[in-house]
Amino acid sequence: MTDLSRRDFLQSAAAAAALAGALNQSLAEEPTPTALKVSGPVVISSANGLRATEKAAEMIAAGADTLDAVIAGVNIVEEDPNDNSVGYGGLPNEDGIVELDSSVMHGPSCRAGAVGALRNIKTPSQVAKVVMERTDHIFLVGEGALRFARSHGFKECDLLTEESRKLWLDWKEHHSDKDNWIPSEVPDPNKRSDARRGFAFTYGTISCLGLNTAGDLSGVTTTSGLSYKLPGRVGDSPIIGAGLYVDNEVGAAGSTGRGEANIKICGTHMIVEAMRHGATPAEATLQAVQRAVHHTTEKRLLHLDGRPNFDLKFYALAKDGRFAGASIWSGGKFAVYADGKNRLEECAFLFQRAEVKP
Ligand code: GLY
Repeated sequence: MTDLSRRDFLQSAAAAAALAGALNQSLAEEPTPTALKVSGPVVISSANGLRATEKAAEMIAAGADTLDAVIAGVNIVEEDPNDNSVGYGGLPNEDGIVELDSSVMHGPSCRAGAVGALRNIKTPSQVAKVVMERTDHIFLVGEGALRFARSHGFKECDLLTEESRKLWLDWKEHHSDKDNWIPSEVPDPNKRSDARRGFAFTYGTISCLGLNTAGDLSGVTTTSGLSYKLPGRVGDSPIIGAGLYVDNEVGAAGSTGRGEANIKICGTHMIVEAMRHGATPAEATLQAVQRAVHHTTEKRLLHLDGRPNFDLKFYALAKDGRFAGASIWSGGKFAVYADGKNRLEECAFLFQRAEVKP
């Protein structure tokens, strides 16, 4: 080694040692996890997850792993043909094909798994868990995710129910008068009103987070995503740090609503980090909602008064059992099981919806 390269080496070694020292110091300064307070399971979910919170809490109370419990909870909704936002019966992409997204995180083992644009499998949350457990990867999409699910014995079926097919056809026939699709002249009494047709895309999703008395946390988010999306579109639900984030030392967060607004801010990671530094779940979820609004600049996404023309919701569960939900617009609710009771609670919000006068 020349004198010059020896000097460079010694300098960079000294710099590396200083950096390691600084990192150790900053890790030591991170707030320690909050003392545990829960005496029973706490499970929180989006408002469509009342059956999920009940099921997951029952399983956690009986000693099940928190991830198995929240997945079993959302499976009820994924398999429900009458829920158009998740799994079987979910609204399809613009070609009429249902494509599902899901992610899972297991707090105690710091592991994650996810699938995106998965076709033909009712329970993408279960496939995401197998990705976590049986691959060296975290995220599989499309054809690869389907082949992986087949390899693990998942049964395929057409996810489009008669109802979701009719809703898609209704959208197809009404969203433009400059194409060759013409609505039936026979009025369909079950048809959605104009307000829900064509322009009203939906982002329905279920997110569910669970905590046991040992302080272990897990979470899952699962969805059929944006209705009538471009084939291949993947939303926030399967993206770790956007649709879901769990840190067993701090807490967990999940999201529903317009995924594109969330992916840009990595909202659930932001929430868990805010809680790590002392924010309450309510403060942390509202901060994420505020950030998403602040980062929405496109005119097509704003009302004339500059407020967003979509909604986005976050749910947070801290390691000490505190929980909250927040949304851009008033009127949002979330499901929660805590203190032995399963119920819906109000989300905090940024903007009050204008009252609709009869
Ligand atoms: N948050 C669900 C989606 O945007 O797909």
